[in-house]
Amino acid sequence: MTKRFFIETFGCQMNELDSEKIAGNLIHGGMTPAPDALQADVIIFNTCAVREKAVQKVYARLGEIKGRKAKKNMVVGVVGCMAQLENEKILKKAPFVNVLAGPQKGNVMCELIDRTLTTHATAIELRKDENPEPLETPYVFRENSWRANVTISEGCNCRCAFCVVPFTRGRERSRESESIIREVKELSTRGFVEIVLLGQTVNSYCDPRSKEITFTRLLRELSQLKGIERIRFASPHPNNLDDDLLKAMVECPQICNQIHMPLQSGSTRILQKMRRGYTREQYLEKIGKIHMAARPIAISTDIIVGFPGETERDFQDTLTLLDEVQYDYAFSFKYSARPNTEALAFQDDVPQEEKGTRLRVLQEHQRLIQYNKNSAYLDQEMEILVNDRAKSRYTLSGRTTNNKVVNFDGPESLLGRIVSVKITGFSANSLKGVWLQKEQAP
Ligand code: SAH
Ligand code: F3S
Repeated sequence: MTKRFFIETFGCQMNELDSEKIAGNLIHGGMTPAPDALQADVIIFNTCAVREKAVQKVYARLGEIKGRKAKKNMVVGVVGCMAQLENEKILKKAPFVNVLAGPQKGNVMCELIDRTLTTHATAIELRKDENPEPLETPYVFRENSWRANVTISEGCNCRCAFCVVPFTRGRERSRESESIIREVKELSTRGFVEIVLLGQTVNSYCDPRSKEITFTRLLRELSQLKGIERIRFASPHPNNLDDDLLKAMVECPQICNQIHMPLQSGSTRILQKMRRGYTREQYLEKIGKIHMAARPIAISTDIIVGFPGETERDFQDTLTLLDEVQYDYAFSFKYSARPNTEALAFQDDVPQEEKGTRLRVLQEHQRLIQYNKNSAYLDQEMEILVNDRAKSRYTLSGRTTNNKVVNFDGPESLLGRIVSVKITGFSANSLKGVWLQKEQAP
């Protein structure tokens, strides 16, 4: 009987793509996807380690399935960043885990499952910098048929004091541009219209075969490809943002006019402790360039509150920076101390309660900014790529090129298509609209 698998994904877009690579490998090996975890013979937790909470969630899930695992002969895998970081600690807490694999092990997942089934021991396969896996993946089972994430680089050479990623995903490696272009061409022939280029610091991309093929050059080449209507990328590092990239964003309409600029803190003193490599002023200078670009570009960010040593004054610096930048969206987090990182040794003098208060204040501050920004879209006509069945009371949801979510009513046949809508309402997080039916539903 064919085995049925189910993958639960935690964390970032890169993990979502890794799960699709794992699924591709398992399907190639003869398994089929199960509709839910309860019906699966193989359950894989593809994990995140960026914050302690993400790790606790996985332990909680392992606790939940422990009983069923004892009754049913099934394979449980813990893979990805948490597996890399916690390693055999996971087996101490959950000895029933059969597969333990670091990130980038999608290509060998079937082998690992076979290994544990034959040896009856846990198959352990961690990522090693000296022996890296290839960045090409022969099989990717894509969740949807119009938008695809594509790896262009992996790992990170920065050493932000709070961040565990360099330890889990290792040193930065770029994939050959020829291989990326081949994959995107193939996706376009299969009908994909949007691609999202992924890397830890995606804009430090450099073709290992030719220094001349930089991130911007790659973007320009990809925007020449027929059928690819939208190109996004995540996440750039502010230090590597250059005029060339902004020029390409202005000149190539396929490159979506949206950029993620992780800030972390608005205080230069804290940025230095975080080893971010820029000051508040340097960051704002880059933002100024984005604001000045001939094409309006939406800006989003990541912010950490309550980093060790963050005073009320430092926190106020973050709030005033939000006012100055007027972000379209911000992901914000309470600082979480992580193993191996430099900041683990810093005395964390911001009480948990204060971190919580600052997070709430910041999120409310940003919510008002977004609400005001979104109000400007009222009555405008916008093009959206229809992405999803909406979770709200509308049937569908799509995104504008500058990444605004628009909910509207329309037939499911619009999924994966670019359509026009008129904006009739807004909230801090999304817009609502009516489909203008310029296009006939197929
Ligand atoms: N460059 C990466 C960032 C990975 S982590 C990328 O975007 O691909 C994503 C975000 O998590 C970071 O930008 C940061 O805001 C947050 N983060 C990282 N480590 C953290 C920690 N120890 N505590 C709280 N938030 C953290
Ligand atoms: Fe982490 Fe900083 Fe790299 S946030 S992923 S070490 S750029």
